[in-house]
Amino acid sequence: MEAAAVDLRSDTINVAAVVRALLEHASDGQPTAIGFPGAVDIDYTPVLPLFGRLFNNVGDPQSDPGGSAHTKVLERAVVDWCADLLALPDDDRWGYVTAGGTEGNLAALHAAHRRHPNAVVYHSRAAHYSIGKIVDIIGARHELVDVDERGEMDYQHLAALVGRSGRRPAIVVATAGTTMTEAVDDPARVDAVLREAGVDRRHVHVDAALAGIPLALDGVLTLAQGSGVDSVSLSGHKFFGTPIPCGLVLMRDSIRRPGRRVAYTATLDTTVSGSRCGQAAALLWCAIAAHGRDGHRARTARARDLAGYAVEQLTAIGWPAWRHPHAFTVVLATPPAAVTRKWLLATDGPWSHTICMPGVTRGQIDALVADLQTASRNGMPVPQQRRGPQTVTAQHAGASGP
Ligand SMILES: Cc1ncc(COP(=O)(O)O)c(C=O)c1O
Repeated sequence: MEAAAVDLRSDTINVAAVVRALLEHASDGQPTAIGFPGAVDIDYTPVLPLFGRLFNNVGDPQSDPGGSAHTKVLERAVVDWCADLLALPDDDRWGYVTAGGTEGNLAALHAAHRRHPNAVVYHSRAAHYSIGKIVDIIGARHELVDVDERGEMDYQHLAALVGRSGRRPAIVVATAGTTMTEAVDDPARVDAVLREAGVDRRHVHVDAALAGIPLALDGVLTLAQGSGVDSVSLSGHKFFGTPIPCGLVLMRDSIRRPGRRVAYTATLDTTVSGSRCGQAAALLWCAIAAHGRDGHRARTARARDLAGYAVEQLTAIGWPAWRHPHAFTVVLATPPAAVTRKWLLATDGPWSHTICMPGVTRGQIDALVADLQTASRNGMPVPQQRRGPQTVTAQHAGASGP
């Protein structure tokens, strides 16, 4: 869009035309937007009437502000549904709807740091960039843990780093669905490393922005007593594909930041943000109400099937590609720039990815494969199969990247 059309110094702005142009631009890009993990199959129109006014879920979800313009009743339902799914004990659970995965990580790591102010934070090289930023914000010491060739934490390296810090408290960030390869770190193996090193004062946080709900539906990710996991952060706009960015953080109530009562909002100040988007809670509630556990399991299965299909089709034309068995993410040898640009494929050197989120179709995968076939026919050598990336710090290409 022309900058002149939106220049606020002009006195001839046509707001409706600008909105129409933005929508058209986004819709034009939609068929080839398969590099960013946002589902597009859930109908949110029932919630749209709420967008005509302010709904402010200020403060703790358990304390209602004065007035009626909030959606905390829905927020509490969302927190409970997710806490049940993750088997967080009924009598010791807490969470809230965040502005996204980063805020969930911040809330969890801040709580962890309050528990263990002298802790070293360990996170892998494949952890999301928000983790390094949060370590900086909370002022903790940190250590970078290596990953294997498919992006999963190297537990031997973790053990070596923990060993070097003596029995100093540890905060370990595991990722459930790394940004580039959707690798999943195993909290049980992290727990074993900490136990063997005799580290009793510890907090294990799982950044499960992408794969948290699917893995919890599989029974693989849990916050149950004895799981060794203390907190989890989830994204709302990825698996649920909410039309605004949001997320959820969960932990035991006994370890959250206590927060103080704020007289003028009549709420408890336990959350990172004060004012929070009431519509976000309503969107998450809508996604859960409309599909339930079975519906979301079916969405997961269809998306994984499509990812399997994508690997088959790419392999059939000789294009190196692979995926983790649970993953929506298909890692493929990096195509020529014109192809990565068109399909908004995230790229990290020799490897790129496409993500078969719910709502992505076989037609889109077939069209991508056809473009790759054309690229290789036009003299583009098909990249040799290589091992996966060692470090995964990819930036998503294009406007809809994170
Ligand atoms: C593993 C992981 N954690 C955290 C985030 C951050 O989420 P947000 O952009 O919602 O803050 C992302 C987003 O890509 C992610 O992939």
